[in-house]
Amino acid sequence: MTSATARTFPSDFVWGAATAAYQIEGAAAEGGRTPSIWDTYSHFSGRVDRGDSGDVADDHYHRWQEDVEHLVRLGVSAYRLSISWSRVIPTGRGPVNPEGVAFYRRLLTALRERGIRPWVTLYHWDLPQELEDEGGWPVRSTAEAFADYARAMATELGDLVEVWTTLNEPWCSAYLGYASGVHAPGRHEPAAALAAVHHLNLAHGLAAREIRTVLPDAKVSVTLNLHVLRPADPSSAGDLDAVRRIDALGNRAFLAPLLEGEYPADLLADTASVTDWSFVRDGDLAVVRTPLAALGVNYYSTTTVRAPEVPGADGAPASRGAESTAADGHRPSEHSAWVGSEDVRFVPHDGPSTAMGWNIDPAGMTELLVDLARRYPGVPLVVTENGAAFDDEVTVDGAGAARVHDERRVAYFHDHVDAVGAALDAGVDVRGYFAWSLLDNFEWGWGYSKRFGIIRVDYDTLERVWKDSAHWFRRLATTGRLPA
Ligand code: NOJ
Repeated sequence: MTSATARTFPSDFVWGAATAAYQIEGAAAEGGRTPSIWDTYSHFSGRVDRGDSGDVADDHYHRWQEDVEHLVRLGVSAYRLSISWSRVIPTGRGPVNPEGVAFYRRLLTALRERGIRPWVTLYHWDLPQELEDEGGWPVRSTAEAFADYARAMATELGDLVEVWTTLNEPWCSAYLGYASGVHAPGRHEPAAALAAVHHLNLAHGLAAREIRTVLPDAKVSVTLNLHVLRPADPSSAGDLDAVRRIDALGNRAFLAPLLEGEYPADLLADTASVTDWSFVRDGDLAVVRTPLAALGVNYYSTTTVRAPEVPGADGAPASRGAESTAADGHRPSEHSAWVGSEDVRFVPHDGPSTAMGWNIDPAGMTELLVDLARRYPGVPLVVTENGAAFDDEVTVDGAGAARVHDERRVAYFHDHVDAVGAALDAGVDVRGYFAWSLLDNFEWGWGYSKRFGIIRVDYDTLERVWKDSAHWFRRLATTGRLPA
């Protein structure tokens, strides 16, 4: 634990928990829902661990009332969830499906009645399959369909939603979906990935405009997974250039258009052999750049990169040990390297890591928040995801009740919340923190093998069991006080 003293957070600081539709809902073929790219990918790509899919997931579609009760018990003031596009507009475009909308109206109404503010993400990776069949995010018409979907949701749910988040981690949608292919739809087309980057940015801008047409005072946000990059050797110009390249592809490809209305010149230069960016049309960037009620930040770990090795004195390449290139690794920051920085090396970390293999580096949270506040003063920040997967063990206490003593997850939360407190101390306007995740759930390509929940889900019985981290988080959310 990093802090020696306890901290008290501002009384209006938002404490919440987060989930996403495909990861928890299940009921994949019920209520008029049609397949999304994740249904297709999980069933047919062979690339999800153990062949898992979101068919049942946490069965939240049927157990939502129980899950609302867990949120109430947790004492959170907000719940971040996402809408399944193909549940509410089954073909991706056209009329809404009343049964799908009714599900979300019931859920959001129940949350409101219990004093929990819904933060709704419109796109958490589950593109209707029909839209992928028409080209997916690499084509412009997907951004236009997204804007229509956003307008329909503003119309149907506008009285219930607190904050609208257009996109969750568009970096993943673009690079993992269309370049490295470790996410749906599993394509390996670098040029398409960069077109997806732009059409996702455009989708955000078009959707924000549509939401505000229906709800002039709507709070609109977007959530990014920004990479905190460290050079292996801070005195090496090559390593610093590796940082610059990955920062351009992974961070500034989103931050610059969204907040400054332009694509960085070095990004365009680095990717010139892949695409000429002619999919960016006149006027697009003015649409993309729109005021944000908050910038959502998902933070989990840091990434160390370096330049490729130079041959040793004997002409043999220097040893790379366990380092990976973009093509063979699984660490989160690596995949943007598929589209223009193939030479960047990702350096394995010493020290503690989570079950994902992600290094634990709370200081990176403070650095990221402080850096964003410096670069974009006036933009409020919210940590929309932070948390950790560990291989939990279930024990049975004296009274025969199941327990999960997940002290490593508690320590992770403690140290990262403390790091958010350090950013507040430094004057950063950070307004909230959402734990990922309320429940163990479908962890994308890892299926159910990785557990991020503060509440355990038994996948045989679908029973929910509070882990120690849920009890810990309840104390934090209800008191606003982080113990030493
Ligand atoms: C980011 C994503 O938004 C979420 O869906 C995922 O489960 C977590 N990170 C953990 O990988």
